[in-house]
Amino acid sequence: MNSVNPENRKEREPYVVTSKGYTAVAINAAAKAGEWIKSRQGQVKELGSKTSAQDLVTEVDKGVEQMIRRLILTHYPDHAILGEEGVEPGADNVAFALEEARKHDYLWIVDPIDGTTNFVHGFPFYCVSIALVASGELTVGVIYDPIRDEMFVAEKGKGAYMHGIPAAVSAEREPGSSLIAMGFPPDRVFAQPANMAGLQQILPQVRGIRAGGSAALHLAYVAIGRVDGYWEVGLSPWDCAAGVLLVQESGGRVTDTLGKPYDIGTRHVVASNGGIHDFLVTSLGEAKGTGFES
Ligand code: IPD
Ligand code: CA
Ligand code: CA
Repeated sequence: MNSVNPENRKEREPYVVTSKGYTAVAINAAAKAGEWIKSRQGQVKELGSKTSAQDLVTEVDKGVEQMIRRLILTHYPDHAILGEEGVEPGADNVAFALEEARKHDYLWIVDPIDGTTNFVHGFPFYCVSIALVASGELTVGVIYDPIRDEMFVAEKGKGAYMHGIPAAVSAEREPGSSLIAMGFPPDRVFAQPANMAGLQQILPQVRGIRAGGSAALHLAYVAIGRVDGYWEVGLSPWDCAAGVLLVQESGGRVTDTLGKPYDIGTRHVVASNGGIHDFLVTSLGEAKGTGFES
């Protein structure tokens, strides 16, 4: 006869995925936002710029961020939200806003459109990026590409998925057989020279380089093995928070350009399948393209 020891009963209770609600909210918000963005492609009414003529913003960026904020706060009114359109442009302002935001136990980090320049030009490579940092730890990362209808989802400790299919980074270990992504932020004084130096160094050593114009999508592509690595100097928290968790939960590695562990304040990012990570970090160092020079 089977006897149940009451002492063991607790262990036998079904496992509850505590972050499931957060993830569902992020997926729902990203899906709604993505559909709206896609429906507005080619119909931008208010094209503005922030720090420079290359740093674009539209009424869609602002409207979508409002929508995402409302959706999150409907479920979690006491959570904090750090969204790109709610922060004054400029690295110092971003750093200050992040320090404030870090004080909250639950912090959502939102990029309503990552790839605004692409969106404005009708170049179909942009996404919505939503991350949740709980007690200082990246816990949920959701990236939605409305053009390809691809929803990338990661939960801390539970893996990463694209439409329910487990994501895994590539197994490539040879730089010469690697496809690498990188990007150019609007800042042409600090970030552009560093990224150009890295490009000059890395391009001759790899199979190819892509600079698609969406940091978040490039990170999602590292996570599912479409590219083997990615780097960029001069990012903001909303460009990469969700994508970083995707890469980590897919078995990849994320550091700063010096090889130090990623933190949500990291601006100079290297993400990879792990196998070519040291090559990227070493190359950026050799090129003086880490963003930490001077
Ligand atoms: C930009 C894109 C771009 C990257 C820039 C980001 P935005 O974000 O991710 O690919 O090179 O660093 O600022 O302005 O389109 O949200
Ligand atoms: Ca962005
Ligand atoms: Ca944006």
